Amino acid sequence: MSDLEEILINKKVCKSVWFMRQAGRYLPEFREIRSQNKDFIQLCLNSDLSSEITLQPIKRFNLDSAIIFSDILMVPYALGQKVEFIKDHGPKLEEFKIENFLNNNKNKFSQKLQPVYKAIKNTREKLEKEKSLIAFIGAPWTLLIYMLGSKIGKNQVDYEILKKKEFEVNLILDNLHDYLCLHIENQIAAGANVVQIFDSWAGLITPENLQDYCYIPNLKLVDFCKNKKIPVICFPKGISENYKEFNNLVKPNGLNLDYDINPIWAKENLKNVVLQGGLSPNALLSSEKEIFKRAEKYLDTFKKSPYVFNLGHGLLPETDPVKVEKLIKFYREY
Ligand code: CP3
Repeated sequence: MSDLEEILINKKVCKSVWFMRQAGRYLPEFREIRSQNKDFIQLCLNSDLSSEITLQPIKRFNLDSAIIFSDILMVPYALGQKVEFIKDHGPKLEEFKIENFLNNNKNKFSQKLQPVYKAIKNTREKLEKEKSLIAFIGAPWTLLIYMLGSKIGKNQVDYEILKKKEFEVNLILDNLHDYLCLHIENQIAAGANVVQIFDSWAGLITPENLQDYCYIPNLKLVDFCKNKKIPVICFPKGISENYKEFNNLVKPNGLNLDYDINPIWAKENLKNVVLQGGLSPNALLSSEKEIFKRAEKYLDTFKKSPYVFNLGHGLLPETDPVKVEKLIKFYREY
């Protein structure tokens, strides 16, 4: 069993570090490959290169876990919605059409994502056995935000539109659940050891809607993982003190703190769960002294508990890899 699994399943208190978005953007060796591969989706579908990119941060920093180089938007892509990444602008999805969405089947979906599974298999073979290979998915709500785009509001979610479309929205969320389970199952079959569920846009949900759009969809996925005996980490970013209610209802093995959550509050309120991360990725843009000081706050708070060192969101593109290396060293010597 890898150390991350030992921590998540057996609540072992030991050191373990990995970073969200550790593979990509801020690494010159990634940018080199990226500059020759203009189509991001095709890059994710290149098994050899995805495996190589997954291992880049492991080679450079000897991190304890690898996260497969892919994207949460590979799921809408595999469900037939065109996905493009516009430079300095982020993802752009083709207009959502319910008739296309409903015209999918499990075989077609798995077939389209076969290269991702092959990359997982290749990577698992190359990775030392104490290291976990982390698979991931976007939570249904977060995928819905990208898939419906301006159909549910321009810069924020328009709940009037959402209510009017309630039947369609629920149909999409239910269907997504089934495909996400299949994607989890396929990634595990290929050799991944742990699953992380990114609900990056959970913070857009109003408190009275959290149950329907965040807790229940996450709970269903967590239960699926638990039935398969796969440790699962949730990341309901931006829901502030509702992290407590989330944890009590969803009961994942691990919970990634976002940078707004006070670690002392977390320690007091988030029970029976392994906490991960929390440190703001912005901290890495400051001086070494400041980085260590801010990291220490998390390490001091969680020193007697099973805790996975990570961040409160992904590493930023402008992060200096040298500082990442120094932070890892600081953590290991702490
Ligand atoms: O963590 C890793 O290193 C593994 C790979 C990974 C990527 N995306 C690669 C990627 C993971 C785990 C993700 C998750 C992801 N993708 C999330 C959830 C985490 C979060 O950040 O909240 C979300 C919301 C997405 C959607 C997405 N993909 C966006 C908004 C963008 C564009 C802006 C950005 O974040 O870079 C992407 C593109 C993307 N995904 C890149 C990488 C390395 C950058 C691609 C490029 O070089 O242009």
